[in-house]
Amino acid sequence: MSEEKIKERWKIEDRVFDRRSLLALSKILKKGIIEHIDFPISTGKEANVYRATTPEGEFAAVKMYRIETTDFVQRLEYIEGDPRFHLVKRTQAEIVYAFTKKEFKNLHLAIKAGVDTAQPLFAVKNIVVMSFLGKDGFPYPPLYKVGKEVIEEDFHNIIENVKRLYEGGLVHSDLSEYNILLGDKPYLIDFAQGVALEHPKAHEFLQRDLSNVLEFFKRYLSIDYTLDELYKEVIE
Ligand SMILES: Nc1ncnc2c1ncn2[C@@H]1O[C@H](COP(=O)(O)OP(=O)(O)O)[C@@H](O)[C@H]1O
Ligand SMILES: [Mg+2]
Repeated sequence: MSEEKIKERWKIEDRVFDRRSLLALSKILKKGIIEHIDFPISTGKEANVYRATTPEGEFAAVKMYRIETTDFVQRLEYIEGDPRFHLVKRTQAEIVYAFTKKEFKNLHLAIKAGVDTAQPLFAVKNIVVMSFLGKDGFPYPPLYKVGKEVIEEDFHNIIENVKRLYEGGLVHSDLSEYNILLGDKPYLIDFAQGVALEHPKAHEFLQRDLSNVLEFFKRYLSIDYTLDELYKEVIE
């Protein structure tokens, strides 16, 4: 499908999707990974996320990282300390593509480790396509929006997921109430920063992840765990 046609069909303007993103998107459409984009779910600082529909009529999530205005240039340490990744060129676009690949690989690893997250479907350039986490076409809300509705079981579920991920060789490294969706159970999302355990700061990142989760739940529930106890539970 031509770029013009995509623009026409989805009323997408250059201001919304830059040229490189449009080309990547047209590849995804051409390959039949998705049939069309439905609507934006989230417009964040690093990425926009859209709900899409597959040719089979199922929903998918399309995460499109920003190339022009990205924060990732300041976060190269998440790529450079990870033995799985080597940056050849350091242009802004290449850095964003590296984080996109990282998220896609991390999602695969997480699913293999039994973590509750989105199934990765496809990745190209600055776009990751994954399964849609939601109900009746609506995305599950992030934890920070659910607030006082959380229960202790959610907390234990999340720690169990962090443990599975760790056993699978990965630390999320950006875990907080913003990157956990709450549906029938909690789902961890946003894996671009996730690092392999060989990363020199992996355990520091793990402690930060656990601390974010603990502090969030302590606002609403009386949780008896200390950070140290949680940390030991995960790494043992
Ligand atoms: N697989 C998914 N299914 C449904 N909604 C999603 C999915 N992935 C992301 N989202 C929505 O998009 C938002 C931002 O996603 P996230 O991966 O955290 O990107 P960002 O880099 O912008 O923080 C989430 O809070 C959630 O609302
Ligand atoms: Mg996020």
